[in-house]
Amino acid sequence: MSPRNFFIGGNWKMNGSVAQVKSLVEGLNKINVPAQTEVVVAPPALYIDRVRANLKKEIGVAAQNSYVKASGAYTGEISPEQLKDLGIDWVILGHSERREYFGESDEFVGEKTAHALKAGVSVIACIGEKLEEREANVTADVVTRQLKGVADKINDWTNVVVAYEPVWAIGTGKVATPEQAEEVHVTLRNWLSTNVSKEVADSVRIIYGGSVNAKNAAELATKPNIDGFLVGGASLKPDDFNTIVQARL
Ligand code: PGA
Repeated sequence: MSPRNFFIGGNWKMNGSVAQVKSLVEGLNKINVPAQTEVVVAPPALYIDRVRANLKKEIGVAAQNSYVKASGAYTGEISPEQLKDLGIDWVILGHSERREYFGESDEFVGEKTAHALKAGVSVIACIGEKLEEREANVTADVVTRQLKGVADKINDWTNVVVAYEPVWAIGTGKVATPEQAEEVHVTLRNWLSTNVSKEVADSVRIIYGGSVNAKNAAELATKPNIDGFLVGGASLKPDDFNTIVQARL
């Protein structure tokens, strides 16, 4: 089991309505957050304010994206300073859906991470290989290149959680095996040890994402380098999400 505090993120993506968000928050408020466990949910930006206002304080709230400026003529964007203003302490950056559909580069994700941290917003930085990359045996190259995009732009990793999310596992029901995930997490930790510092490698949380559910979470959580999960689909079902939150107990 991981020696670090467990971290569970719920990524709602572009899902929900006023009514659904209300019932999700009611369900989440019943969750008992265990000791040494951090829980953060990421609603769509439109609902973030009402979620923060109605969700119990033991559960953190994250945005799903943020920009590299504090304010200005950037139509449609949200700044980490504005998130902070609403009491939002986290942001998910570099999710594979943003890389794929919105063309976000490793460098841009690194810039966004640096800006969010500067504004006092903690970052869940997402990386992960595509199926063809895994099949071509370049997984380690891809994920360390993506991690370098972040490492090149920041010095302090205290408020960063790295989410390893193989693209082939996201929303597919095809979860990585605990061994597959552990192997990549070890690769990432070794890369951090060599290229950043041993201290950062030992302390940074590396969480797994991609078809995590109430049935497979406990086994994944036994691995020493899996420090938690980023959960998509199952985070929309409070009972399942609760099971995942309790997975390490
Ligand atoms: P999933 O999504 O749990 O629905 O596979 C994970 C994610 O994209 O963070």
